[in-house]
Amino acid sequence: MESLNELLQDQLKDLYNAEKQLVKALPAMAKKASTPALKDAFTTHLEETKEHVQRLERIGQALSTKLTGKTCKAMAGLIEEGKEVLAEKGNRLVLDAALIAAAQRVEHYEISAYGSARALAEKLSQRDAVDLLQETLDEEAAADKKLSTISLDEVLPEAASGNEEDEDSQAEPAGASSSRGRSKQRSSR
Ligand SMILES: [Fe+2]
Repeated sequence: MESLNELLQDQLKDLYNAEKQLVKALPAMAKKASTPALKDAFTTHLEETKEHVQRLERIGQALSTKLTGKTCKAMAGLIEEGKEVLAEKGNRLVLDAALIAAAQRVEHYEISAYGSARALAEKLSQRDAVDLLQETLDEEAAADKKLSTISLDEVLPEAASGNEEDEDSQAEPAGASSSRGRSKQRSSR
């Protein structure tokens, strides 16, 4: 590998294969998700991911490069970990949280890969490629943010409140902890 041009092509091939692997993996993630917002997020991202494949094909055409012939081992590994979640049984909210953890690993990988590819395209003054890569990068970032919101607003609070019921039975009486809280407040003044 001698030129940044070659490196960009190599990076695009890696991404192309990564996105194609993800198109195959997302339907099972959507099927496993039980929180409706999460199921919806996976389904929406599947459609976006199909567009990401097409955008990369357009970039390949613009650069007169075939993007086939490479396997993204990192994505294969991330999907393999996602499959471990798919095989798990148990609390549906905990499993949703596990799906989110797996999916966010994928998004962060893609965000970094698209960031690198965009920087290379910029350096090589490939304007069309820069714009197309940026479009996908924005969608990956939005998908990641959406997963965080679903996790923090719905999945984790609901999963934790399910667990709290167990903890409450072992907790001290409310009076004991509140008087301790009060004396702590007083001593801090
Ligand atoms: Fe993507």
